[in-house]
Parts: sequence; structure tokens; C-alpha cells
Amino acid sequence: MTASPRRYHITTFGCQMNKADSERMAGILEQMGFQWSEDPNDADLILYNTCTIRDNAEHKVYSYLGKQAERKRQQPELTLVVAGCVAQQEGEALLRRVPELDLVMGPQHANRLRDLLEQVFDGSQVVATEPVHIIEDITKPRRESKVTAWVNVIYGCNERCTYCVVPSVRGVEQSRTPEAIRAEIEELGRQGYKEVTLLGQNIDAYGRDLPGVTPEGRHRHTLTDLLYYVSDVEGIERIRFATSHPRYFTERLIRACAELPKVCEYFHIPFQSGDNDILKAMARGYTHEKYRRIIDTIRSYMPDASISADVIVGFPGETEEQFEKTLQLVEEIGFDLVNTAAYSPRPNTPAALWENQVSEEVKADRLQRLNHLVSIKAAERSQRYFGRIEEVLVEYQNPKDRTQVMGRTRGNRLTFFPGDINELRGRVVPVKITEVRAFSLTGKIAEE
Ligand code: SAH
Ligand code: SF4
Ligand code: F3S
Repeated sequence: MTASPRRYHITTFGCQMNKADSERMAGILEQMGFQWSEDPNDADLILYNTCTIRDNAEHKVYSYLGKQAERKRQQPELTLVVAGCVAQQEGEALLRRVPELDLVMGPQHANRLRDLLEQVFDGSQVVATEPVHIIEDITKPRRESKVTAWVNVIYGCNERCTYCVVPSVRGVEQSRTPEAIRAEIEELGRQGYKEVTLLGQNIDAYGRDLPGVTPEGRHRHTLTDLLYYVSDVEGIERIRFATSHPRYFTERLIRACAELPKVCEYFHIPFQSGDNDILKAMARGYTHEKYRRIIDTIRSYMPDASISADVIVGFPGETEEQFEKTLQLVEEIGFDLVNTAAYSPRPNTPAALWENQVSEEVKADRLQRLNHLVSIKAAERSQRYFGRIEEVLVEYQNPKDRTQVMGRTRGNRLTFFPGDINELRGRVVPVKITEVRAFSLTGKIAEE
């Protein structure tokens, strides 16, 4: 053993939940006495927190791993960990593919990192992928931001969208109790955090696995109830939540968002396709008409609400006409942001086995056409900010221009303006918008 502190490096490949897991695992490593190393090549322990949502996400990790496995052959004391969704999907097979690995651990095991590493330091190679009841998080995460924080509220997903690998890698839904969630947010408020984003793959499912029903027969602890329950935590000025599923999105939730001043007028509601037959084949459980009604209802309560979504192009069997319905929906709704992806067949998902796959050329062409439309529409939506005064919560210095700081509006638009980060970090500043682009804004502090 060397006397100097051991150093760790984490690379995070996946979604917000994957990032939140990384922050908790980093917290555990620091409690164990490890120190952060920016450069993986200086670290004694490297953890790859992986994603398998699409083929390219999965492949990225193997090239990283190859390099570190090579290094481990020279430096046997190096500890190599693969966590997250590829670890869950591959399990033992990953050890056979990369025998240099010390630990393969699924996302449900993130909070158990200390235990698992102790087994590794005792000399075992460990695979932890069995489904478990997720233990309550008692460690202090090492959070990247000092201003905004993620708070998991529900793990896993019980849906069975036919393209999606998440249920098989993240397991069944497990909601945290409202008390545990509130306690975490109160602690964040005490530490000076200003914004929280409540996280779940299908956040509208929050609470359906918790005991209790109301006299009207609904679950006692829904997302809406949770928003009311955490809406007055001292110090926290903004609350967001993601990801919403159109199938479960209620008017009661929309009313709560309109009523509660801290809940931002920002909604991330993936629609995936604008065609009802494709939606059916995806097993999404709603129609594009239902989706439009949700957006209309949101806008009837909050006319200026920002809306973002995810879309897949080239799902098996998608015809040109069906794809055009997706274009039409994007044209008509006026999204602030749309995350787009070409369909990628995933292991253990039904759609991957269908014979009516769309060719890569057609997928690429559709993706390009959709992205073009998305940025035109986002630029149009940005126009409404021009000349307005927006409240911006300041988070960072602009890395490309050190005279500027950056933060987000309530609608989640990235905004830059001149200012000193040391003075402004964590403050909500009124900013007059002087320049608009498709996905970001520039302004100056509004004089009053
Ligand atoms: N729970 C969220 C999304 C989770 S995955 C929801 O229900 O919408 C994030 C996004 O990745 C999805 O919204 C989808 O657009 C995309 N995605 C998931 N599986 C995919 C696949 N097999 N190919 C391409 N994109 C996919
Ligand atoms: Fe995947 Fe569907 Fe669950 Fe979202 S709701 S994580 S797309 S299975
Ligand atoms: Fe990827 Fe797992 Fe998130 S597959 S998108 S890291 S849930």
C-alpha cells in the first residue's frame, strides 16, 4: 500500500439518472478516502458508469475499457469498475470479454459500492446484477453543481415500450418515500442549493408502489402530492421534474405546476412518434390526439410554458407517410427542444426481432430532416424571449467567455450575460434578453 491518498476517476455515459448515480458513487468513494482525479490515467480506481440505450452508447464504453485493461496489465493494482446499464445487461459476459475487470455492478447496486469494493479489495472479482430492493441513500453525493441538484424519486420502469432496454436494465419501479425525498431536499436547501430536479424514468408512476389509497380511490402518494409536499422547502427556489409519460400525465399535475410558484413552467414529455399505428407498435398507450390535448391543457394554464420531447425515427415498419406525421407534430406543437434519435435495435426488446426494420440510409435521412425542422422551430420559439426580462439562475462561468456567466431561465433556456461568477453564482438575476438563438439566449442584467 502507498501512503499517498488513492485517486479515482468516473466517466459517466448515460442519462440524468446515470449522472445522479455517478454523483452518489463519487460520494461513497470520497467517504472511503479516495480523491477525485480528472485524468483517468492518474487514477488508482476507474469507474465507467455506462449506458446502453442505443448501440453507439454501448460501443463507446468498450473502446474506453480496452485502453484501461491494457494499462492494468502493466499496473495490476489498478481497480477497474463497470457500473450502470451495460454492466446490468452484460453481467458475467462482461468479465469474459474483459477479464481485467474487478467489479461489474448494475444500477440498482450503486448505493452498495463500498460493500462491493471491500469484496474486491479482499481479492475477489465481483458481479452484482441480481435485482435488489434499493437501499435508501445515506451517503452524501459529490454533486457537480453547487446550485442545481438531482433528486431520484422513483427508480426503474414498469412500462414495456417495445424498443426500450430500460426496464430490463433498471428493474421494476421502486419509489422512495416522500419523507426521505423531502429530507434530501431540505439538506440541499441548507447547503445552499437553489434548484432541484426530481428524477424518474417514468416519473408519473411515482408512488404507485407505495402503500395507501385516498377515499376517492387513487394512490395516496402521486407525483402531484409529492410536488405539494416538497414545494415549501426553505432555500430551494425552483423545482423541475423529468421524465413525464403522456399516458399518465394528469390535469391535476398541470394545476399543481401552475399553482406552485417554485415549480417551473417547463415540461419534458417525450412523444416518440406522431403516428398512431407506430405509437401502438411501440406500446406507448396513447395517441397523438391525446398528446396534443395534454399540450393544449398545459398551455391553457401556463400559456408560455416550455415544452421539450424525445422522438425516435425509423422505428420498424415506419413508412415515409408515418414519418411525415412526426414532422407534422413537430411543426404544429412548437417545441422548445426535441431530442431526436434513429431507432437502434436493443437486446431483449421485442422490436429488435421484427423483420420490418428500416434501412440505415432511410433512418439517417429522416433524422437529418427532423433535426432541421426542430432547429427551425426552436429558433422560432426563442424569438418570444427577445427584449423580455427573464429570471436566470446563475450556475457557471461561460467557459468560452470568462467575462460572462451562464444559467437557465425558468423555461430551461441556457442564457449568457456579462457578470462575475463569484458574485452571482446561485443567484436569480433579472436579465434583459438582447440576442436569441435556437437553443440559447444572451442578455444583460436588467437595470431597475
Ligand atoms: N422514460 C423516457 C425515456 C427514456 S430513454 C420515456 O418514456 O420517454 C430516453 C430516450 O431515448 C427515449 O425517449 C427515446 O426517444 C430514446 N430511445 C430509447 N430507446 C431507444 C432505441 N432503442 N433506439 C433509439 N432511441 C431510443
Ligand atoms: Fe423505456 Fe418506455 Fe420505460 Fe421510458 S417508459 S424508460 S421509453 S420502457
Ligand atoms: Fe442509458 Fe441506462 Fe439511462 S440505458 S439512458 S443510462 S437508464
